[in-house]
Amino acid sequence: MHIIILGIESSCDDTAAAVIRDGFFLSNVNADQEVHKAYGGVVPELASRAHQQNIVPVVDQALKLAKVNKSQISGVAFTKGPGLLGSLLVGTSFAKGFALARNIPLIEVNHLQAHVLAHFIKEESEDRKYPAFPFLCLLVSGGHTQLVVVSDFLDMQVIGKTIDDAAGEAFDKCAKVIGLKYPGGPQIDKIAQGGNPKAFPFTKPRVNKLDYSFSGLKTAFLYFIRDNIKKNPEFIKQNIKDICASIQYSIVNILMDKLIQASEDTGIKEITAAGGVSANSELRKTLSDVAKKNNWKLYLLELKYTTDNAAMIAITGYYKFLKNQFVRQDIVPMARLNL
Ligand code: KG4
Ligand code: ZN
Repeated sequence: MHIIILGIESSCDDTAAAVIRDGFFLSNVNADQEVHKAYGGVVPELASRAHQQNIVPVVDQALKLAKVNKSQISGVAFTKGPGLLGSLLVGTSFAKGFALARNIPLIEVNHLQAHVLAHFIKEESEDRKYPAFPFLCLLVSGGHTQLVVVSDFLDMQVIGKTIDDAAGEAFDKCAKVIGLKYPGGPQIDKIAQGGNPKAFPFTKPRVNKLDYSFSGLKTAFLYFIRDNIKKNPEFIKQNIKDICASIQYSIVNILMDKLIQASEDTGIKEITAAGGVSANSELRKTLSDVAKKNNWKLYLLELKYTTDNAAMIAITGYYKFLKNQFVRQDIVPMARLNL
């Protein structure tokens, strides 16, 4: 009998649903929320309202695209956290209702674990290698920056993390300083093409062991822009490519230094990256270059699986289903949740 999992993701500003059969992708539908663009960041109240509007049509479409009907679903997986509580509540409530109505297992999923397990979403007729355990994952998103040792599908250990801002946050906040709309990360990536990454050097933070820090860089960037605008009001306009390339280069190098250190410390050469920032083209290029130099086996996600999506929730649900890791109806979402 097939194991068919419906995955629901609603931790931030994407309402997403996906269907996975025996670990193979069937559908993945995502309604992102334009409403936040005008505010320079995600507005929690608006996010939860948009989730309520989107969830039913998104699930409906995911089932249609998968050519699966409700009665065939073996279990429903949802994001328990971390994320915005009001947003998480919508996905959690929907999943509970769906499981109760169909009398099928309910599976809670840690959003961070799901980003890592996105590497195991299989697609029909593809001939691809999967990371072998144990592997290292550079988990870089808007809310988290962590180095994770992955010993098995459901066995992960954080060996380093940011002590303040996440890498995605650094991208977004620096983007805001130069007038780019939220989320600024992808725009910096685009504008940086053709810019000189060494035009404006920024000092690297000094942080213990395998931990990260990005708040100093963000402040240095703010002062750098402010001081230059004082001298030349057209500074941003005249240097936008070099500014974007330089800040991107700094963030990528900070990420890479600790990843290289982590690989040396652990002796692990199976390397992966996950989370929205792993879509960054400079990070992907640098990872490939360093992998060649250091004999790493590198696994990069398809871009659609780097940012928030429900297929990663469904694949995690699938591995938990295999282990009978189900939860009861009194489960509650959690805004803060560690790996
Ligand atoms: O994983 P994700 O979709 O959501 C969270 O779980 O946080 O990550 C979103 C973050 C945002 O900060 C966004 O600016 C960043 O990922 N991001 C990028 C790129 N694509 C998304 N940052 C730099 N370059 C990109 N191409
Ligand atoms: Zn995420």
